[in-house]
Amino acid sequence: MAKHKIGWLPGDGIGIEVLAAAKVVLDKLGLDAEYVEGDIGWECWRSEGDAFPIRTIVLLKSVDAAMFGAITSKPVKAAEAELAPELQGRGLVYRSPIVRMRQLFDLYVCLRPCKAYAGNPLNFKEGIELMVFRENTEDLYAGVEFGPVPDELAEVLNRLSKNFAPFAKLPGDEYALSCKLNSRAGSERIARAAFEFAARSHRKKVTVVHKANVVRATDGLFLESAKEVAKEFPDIPVDDANIDAMCMWLLKNPFNYDVLVAPNLYGDVISDLCAQMVGGLGFGCSGNIGKELAVFEPTHGSAPKYAGQNKVNPIATILAAKMMLDWLGETTMAARLEEAVAAVIAEGRVRTYDMGGSSTTTQMAEAIAAEL
Ligand SMILES: NC(=O)c1ccc[n+]([C@@H]2O[C@H](COP(=O)([O-])OP(=O)(O)OC[C@H]3O[C@@H](n4cnc5c(N)ncnc54)[C@H](O)[C@@H]3O)[C@@H](O)[C@H]2O)c1
Repeated sequence: MAKHKIGWLPGDGIGIEVLAAAKVVLDKLGLDAEYVEGDIGWECWRSEGDAFPIRTIVLLKSVDAAMFGAITSKPVKAAEAELAPELQGRGLVYRSPIVRMRQLFDLYVCLRPCKAYAGNPLNFKEGIELMVFRENTEDLYAGVEFGPVPDELAEVLNRLSKNFAPFAKLPGDEYALSCKLNSRAGSERIARAAFEFAARSHRKKVTVVHKANVVRATDGLFLESAKEVAKEFPDIPVDDANIDAMCMWLLKNPFNYDVLVAPNLYGDVISDLCAQMVGGLGFGCSGNIGKELAVFEPTHGSAPKYAGQNKVNPIATILAAKMMLDWLGETTMAARLEEAVAAVIAEGRVRTYDMGGSSTTTQMAEAIAAEL
């Protein structure tokens, strides 16, 4: 029996190619693993009316960790229009399978390392190294949304909040409402994950990202919870910043920051910003981490315009595989893989189109495997 059982979810578009590239390096490393492939994504939605079928949920319950490529997703009406004819009109509503997966398996930490590997022509500045902890299950992504807004909900809101008055005049189908839901426990556990990492890895500071001056209830709770947790880590300096100022400061002085912790939406925003500073989507890797399961993925989507062309950069996915190796306790393999990625980037002989070269996805994976 293999030492590790790994769920393998390529998904759509370039997800299939980048996961195949990750497999090249994992095989070269000789990871003792059984890979179990699962269905997820647009084809499942179109033909079955569910982008995250039950059989894939069952599969994920049986594995130690999983790698996920990317999925295509579309707004609700466009999604319904693409359903197989026999599934149309049945009230099926598309919802992102990755968001569902994060909630279903309580993968509450979205960990996004953003590191400028020396010699990457896409680096904004050499030497940037940031770690983003994004809360992954709550906030505006909780999925509690109304459009049209039911009258009974509008009545309650009108009664309880005077700020609702301008909307109370509108018919329910003339506006929409997405709830931003943040719990104390949810805020504390992501903050604790960030501080524990900072303490373990001797990082210089944790910055709490929020907008508590305007979004007082939810971001106020997030900030308050993070500050409470900070008291448990007196040796780790902590500061905080509004999300808008944070975007400006990160670009201006990226070396002033180290570990960032944020609610779901702001974490999503700053991790793309941080990823862009260290090479863009071809370098953005992420881990969705819970107590029982962790799912690793590139942060990019299915990039339909490049699908099937063997053209995109697999480094984001290969770095996600490195994160998975760390999670599985295969830290020596993880370090070797990161060194190999760094060596190929520094050498600059093999570069995909985004790095200004013409190497293919496969050639990049093979070059990294050759360094191992
Ligand atoms: N986690 C996910 O699966 C995920 C994330 C984002 C978007 N999506 C979905 O993906 C689909 C396409 O979305 P999009 O085009 O806005 O975003 P995308 O991330 O798929 O691609 C945007 C652009 O970034 C570049 N890019 C992306 N990955 C790259 C790589 N590995 N190497 C080099 N360049 C790369 C390409 O120029 C691409 O056109 C949509 O349906 C969207 O909903 C899924």
